[in-house]
Amino acid sequence: MTLQPNRIYQGNCIEKLRQLEAGSVDLVFADPPFNIGYSYDVYDDQRTTTDYLEFCEAWIREVHTALKPNGTFWLAIGDEYAAELKVLAQQLGFHTRSWVIWYYTFGVNCVRGFSRSHTHLFHFVKDPDDFTFNGENPAVRVASARQLVYADSRASTKGRLPDNTWILRPQDAPAPSFSPSHDTWFFSRVAGTFKEREGFHGCQMPEQLLGRIVRVSSNPGDLVVDPFGGSGTTLAVAKKLGRRWNGFELSKEYVSRIEQRIEGCEIGQDLDGPADPQKSAPKTARGKTRTKFKNGRPVISLDSETESSVIEAFTEASDGHSTDYLLCDPKLSKRFLSACRERSLPGDARMWNSFLLRIRKSGKLPKSTNSGRRLSYTDMDPYSDGSESAMRLVGIDYGMTLDEMLCSPQAASEFDQLAGMFSPGYSSFEYRWAALALRKRAGTKRYRTLASDQQQYWSQQRTPNRFALEKCLAAKYDCPGVYVVLFEDSVLYVGETQSIRDRVEKLLNTEAWMNFAPTAVRVWFLKDEQKQFGLRSFLINRDKPLLNSEYLRQS
Ligand SMILES: C[S@@+](CC[C@H](N)C(=O)[O-])C[C@H]1O[C@@H](n2cnc3c(N)ncnc32)[C@H](O)[C@@H]1O
Repeated sequence: MTLQPNRIYQGNCIEKLRQLEAGSVDLVFADPPFNIGYSYDVYDDQRTTTDYLEFCEAWIREVHTALKPNGTFWLAIGDEYAAELKVLAQQLGFHTRSWVIWYYTFGVNCVRGFSRSHTHLFHFVKDPDDFTFNGENPAVRVASARQLVYADSRASTKGRLPDNTWILRPQDAPAPSFSPSHDTWFFSRVAGTFKEREGFHGCQMPEQLLGRIVRVSSNPGDLVVDPFGGSGTTLAVAKKLGRRWNGFELSKEYVSRIEQRIEGCEIGQDLDGPADPQKSAPKTARGKTRTKFKNGRPVISLDSETESSVIEAFTEASDGHSTDYLLCDPKLSKRFLSACRERSLPGDARMWNSFLLRIRKSGKLPKSTNSGRRLSYTDMDPYSDGSESAMRLVGIDYGMTLDEMLCSPQAASEFDQLAGMFSPGYSSFEYRWAALALRKRAGTKRYRTLASDQQQYWSQQRTPNRFALEKCLAAKYDCPGVYVVLFEDSVLYVGETQSIRDRVEKLLNTEAWMNFAPTAVRVWFLKDEQKQFGLRSFLINRDKPLLNSEYLRQS
């Protein structure tokens, strides 16, 4: 029996891991019972040491087999067996990349010993020269001390990678000697009173902790597996971050609770809990107000001198084009950033671009006099699907809006590359402009009304049967319409196009699409552009596909 992705299976993980195709998994996160006599509903957490270590050897061996050659294995374990399991994993072929300490509060108080306030997180890889590590992902990085403590516009907006001590609640950090930038990670445990708490499992891990691991060690669309489901945190996070996932859990009761939890979350939804607790930190000891954060990023104040210099730099660089045009055109964008640099403006490229958008909002930028290259929807048809999918994936993974993406040179170039992988052969300008055009159209009153007016009509129509992708290569499919791309029963993407055949041909021949392993399509032949939009909008709102932009959602 082979396993279906995006499912939790009840049973012993050793057997279930064997049912996964060998070498098919990108990331395994395992938080096994620690053999400390914890009370689970089915599992007995009090084994002899020999028995426990044999059990661990058996499942870690299966993890190794299931992982891809460039796969990653994260293991959470308590003090009792940390040393043994590290050695065991290495003997089974893993290489240790990091030994992270997750430092938490709300641990159990001990009377005759020190209270437990940390868990070990081992970061193992199969191949030390080839593994996923997205250290540049802004959602993985934390604010630098300078950003954090001072509203300092000279601090880089990039932040820094967390060190190997992870901490989630600032008031618990042992200040001032403690350095938050090393290998102890500080996330509060999910205490009984927390909103995040699912309420049925005492070992629930925080979503933000798993968010960091899933983001840094896998990419959207990758397969993430948790052999010890528990309350389903890894699986909920994998789903929210657009990964495929599988989970195993011994207890039937936990499995059905996990299913409910997963059902209740959506791709692209925010993770529960504060992303970086230090951002909600109180005033510093000297009473200085810390930097304000919006969407997890620092908001730097813009003084009037900087504002005038940004306007000057824009006027000099833009050739009369609009801000959007400048941000879409790498050449103009570069010119603007050089002009900012020449004026010795504080901050970095991302900050200057964000200043530009802020100033535009306040209406202080000169009106554009040069409309430049015009792209119609027909022009953008061959690549608007790639642009939309890239916008969606970078948005989920980096936790950024389209504007934030365009302001960050690193995120914008990631977007260009991804769009080029879905729809090869077009320029950065074209991909970026298509993303803006999609957002603009979806946001207009006319299209919003159009979508809601057609909602009822489409809900009463028959859904066409699914069929194999290859069938669409026939000449009769070289016509306009709406199509749905399926992976098994889940909807990957809903598109509208001038040529269904050309779009489906891309699904069969383009690496990025092939990674999502589309299995079938449904097709509606529709010429009318308004009907196309109405149907697409209806399907996106109903099925919430992985690769469609959230700008097309009604709510
Ligand atoms: C520490 S908890 C996992 C908690 C999880 N990380 C979370 O955030 O909710 C360990 C879970 O493993 C399950 N378990 C124990 N032995 C198992 C096995 N052989 N196969 C699958 N699940 C098992 C237990 O029932 C328990 O729910």
